Amino acid sequence: MNAPLERSTATNRVRTATSHGLDLALRTEVLRGLAATPKTLPPKLFYDATGAVLFERITELPEYYPTRAELEILRAHTRDIATLAGERCALVEYGSGAGVKVRLLLDAFAGEGHPVAAYVPIDISREQLADVAAQIAAEYPAVPVYPVCADYTAPLRLPDLPQRARRIAFFPGSTIGNFHPTEAAAFLRRVRRTIADDGVLVLGVDRRKDAATLDAAYNDSAGITAVFNLNMLARLNRELGADFDLPRFQHRAFFNEVASRIEMHLVSLERQVVHLAGERFAFEAGESIWTESSYKYDLAALGVLVTSAGFRITRLWTDAAERFWVAYLGAA
Ligand code: AVJ
Repeated sequence: MNAPLERSTATNRVRTATSHGLDLALRTEVLRGLAATPKTLPPKLFYDATGAVLFERITELPEYYPTRAELEILRAHTRDIATLAGERCALVEYGSGAGVKVRLLLDAFAGEGHPVAAYVPIDISREQLADVAAQIAAEYPAVPVYPVCADYTAPLRLPDLPQRARRIAFFPGSTIGNFHPTEAAAFLRRVRRTIADDGVLVLGVDRRKDAATLDAAYNDSAGITAVFNLNMLARLNRELGADFDLPRFQHRAFFNEVASRIEMHLVSLERQVVHLAGERFAFEAGESIWTESSYKYDLAALGVLVTSAGFRITRLWTDAAERFWVAYLGAA
């Protein structure tokens, strides 16, 4: 790079973050979930600042293969993605997290000689979103960054993006697995409308595999997944003044073969009452709060899902051990 110093050091300013009244909506969902039978709490609650750090530790665990498998695929195919997608793309990432995967994509677009016209990271973790937006803006001076702090499980409006930019939605991490199948289809239909007829969705999906591998990935021997799961209760204590006694709850995760999903629960070890926002919630011994589902797809199920949302599979890549997919989806 031999651009003049003034140019190369000019700051790429992050566009003003868009925010969507998260806190009130989350509180309502918590109260509704704990009053339901079975009791549920939404997995997006995992990702406060502590939870975001714990999740990063999960991705490094020997048993937790999805992140490594997906990175292997992305390293092999981001150039294909950049070539297929072409020039003047606005990259919209659902759940930007620590921003590791998107750097591979941004590098590939730049390497092909057509850096993206905009990067739109969408994330529910406000602190992590601000950090990642600032870092990406600094590392990629040619790329305007438009962070959106939002819960993308609900409809959301994107900021005004550069004109005529083709929208490339990026939804990595197999987070699609957190949706029940009908919700997954509804979410993908919203993405389909967002990208319009000339857009693309690059989707990361965890493949169905033997129960032992799956069970181990969500019951790591270091116990980090248990801490990650229990942090949801700690967060409700911190932010909503709840009085969950953490030692009286236990992490439980298993592969439900019939539904093809990992289920994560927090099991009450005894009969007890918990208080939150002026309400009482009674637990039987052994009763659980269902905190997460992580659906695992075979090819038939993936085909049904994407077709029902108006996409078609243009390319489908896997890793050497065939644990994970990255799908390049166009409008059907
Ligand atoms: C971020 C939703 C992909 O389902 O594997 C990891 C979250 N939960 N360990 C997953 C998670 C427990 C993860 N996703």
